Amino acid sequence: MGKIVVGKSEALRGTVRVSGAKNAALAIIPATILASDTSVLENVPPISDVHVYRDILEELGLQVDYASAAGKMTINADTLNNYRTSSDKVRQLRASSLLLGPLLARGGEAQIAMPGGCDLGPRPIDYHLKGLAALGAEISVEHGYIRAKAKELKGAEIYLDYPSVGATENIMMAAALAKGTTTLENVAREPEIVDLASFLNVMGGKVKGAGTDTIKVTGSPRLSGADHAIIPDRIEAGTFIAAAAATGGEVGLTNVIPKHLDPICAKIREMGVDIDIKEDALTAYGTDRIKPVDLKTLPYPGFPTDMQAQMMAVTCKAQGTSVITETVFEGRYKHVDELKRLGANIKVEGRSAVVTGVERLSGAAVSATDLRAGAALLLAGFTADGETEIDGAEHIDRGYAGIEAKFTRLGAKIRRV
Ligand code: EPU
Repeated sequence: MGKIVVGKSEALRGTVRVSGAKNAALAIIPATILASDTSVLENVPPISDVHVYRDILEELGLQVDYASAAGKMTINADTLNNYRTSSDKVRQLRASSLLLGPLLARGGEAQIAMPGGCDLGPRPIDYHLKGLAALGAEISVEHGYIRAKAKELKGAEIYLDYPSVGATENIMMAAALAKGTTTLENVAREPEIVDLASFLNVMGGKVKGAGTDTIKVTGSPRLSGADHAIIPDRIEAGTFIAAAAATGGEVGLTNVIPKHLDPICAKIREMGVDIDIKEDALTAYGTDRIKPVDLKTLPYPGFPTDMQAQMMAVTCKAQGTSVITETVFEGRYKHVDELKRLGANIKVEGRSAVVTGVERLSGAAVSATDLRAGAALLLAGFTADGETEIDGAEHIDRGYAGIEAKFTRLGAKIRRV
C-alpha cells in the first residue's frame, strides 16, 4: 500500500493543466471495440484505471499502443479474438461493466467477471442488464460471472429507473450496432455521456439527444475506428478549485470546459471564493474566511457526487455549519471517520452529514478508502497543522494523474513514501 504524506501548505498558487476525463476515457476505450479497425484517442489521462483497461483489452486480443505521457492511445480492435475475460483486472474496475455492450454488439456474446471499483456501498448493474435484455440479449449471472448472448440485437424503447451513467453508456454502445432504433428515456446527462455520443457519431453511429434526458440511437450495420480527443476532467478541475478554497490560495487551471463546472463553481462561489472564467481556463481566488454551504449530490446538472468528499474537506474549516446530503451512492461517507481523525466535527444523520467548521485541524495517519476520499484527505491535510500520512495512495492514482507533481507546482508540501 503506497502512502502520500502532506504537510500544512499555505495558500497554493500557480497554474495546472487539467488531464482528460477519467470517466469519459473509461467509456470511450471500450467503445473502440465496436469497430473492427483502429481508433486513436487523445487526451487520455495517465491514471492507473486506464492502464488496467489497456491490459484488459490486450487480453481480449486488441492491439493497444499507449503513449501515456502524450495522452495518446491507439487501439486496433481488428484483432479482437476473445469475448470472455476471466481477468482479475475486471474485478478492479467498475467501468469494466462497459465491456458488455460493445462485446455483445460486435460478436454476439460477452462474459466478464462481476466488476469491482471503489467501495461506495452497493453498486449493482441491474439497469445495464435490463437494458441489454430489452435489446434482445439473454443474460445470466453465475459463479461471479455475467454472461450475455444475442444472435441479433434489436432496437427497443427503454426507460431507465434511474439516470445511471454506466447503464446509459452500455445501452448506447450496444444500440449503436443493433437493428433499428433504440429510444432511451430518463438517461444520464453527464458531459461524459455527451463525449461518448460524439465518439460513436465520429465512428459513423447515429446518436441523438445526448445531454438531454432522452437519447435516440439508430443502429448501424458497422462502425469504423475514429480519432477523438477526450474532454477535460471536470472532477479533477473541481478538486483543484477546492484546493484553492481550502488553502485560501490562487489556482489557475487550463484545459477546462467551464460550462461542465457550473454546478461545482456555483457552490464554491457560495463559500466566498471568486472564480474568474475564460474560454477554456479559469482562476480560483480563495479566501481566509470560508463560508459554510449546504449541498445535495444529484445526477448532472446537479452537484456531482464525485466532488462531495472534497467539498466536505473544505467545509471542515468553514465559519459555521454546512449540511451535505449524498443521494447518489448509499455508502459514500467513508472519508468522514478519516476527516474526524484530523479533528473535524462531522455528524452523519442518515444520508446527510452535518459539518461544523473548526479553527484547527491537526495532521494524523489516515486511510484513503476510495479515490475521492483520498482527494479529500489531501485537501484537509494541506490545512492541518503538522503532517498527514495518507495510506492507500493507489486509490488516488486510479483517477488523478501526477497528483504530487501538480500539487508541488502549486507550492504544496506533498511527497510519496
Ligand atoms: N445503480 C443501480 N443499478 C445499476 C446502476 C446504478 O442501482 O444498474 C445505482 C448505483 O448503485 C448508484 C446510482 O445508481 O447508487 C448511480 O450509479 P451510476 O450507474 O450513475 O454510476 P456508475 O456508472 O457506476 C459513474 C462514475 C462514478 C460516478 C457515477 C455518478 C465511471 C467509471 N464512474 O459510475 O465515478 O460517481 O457515475 O456520477 O464513470 C469516481 O469517478 O470517483 C466515480 C465513482
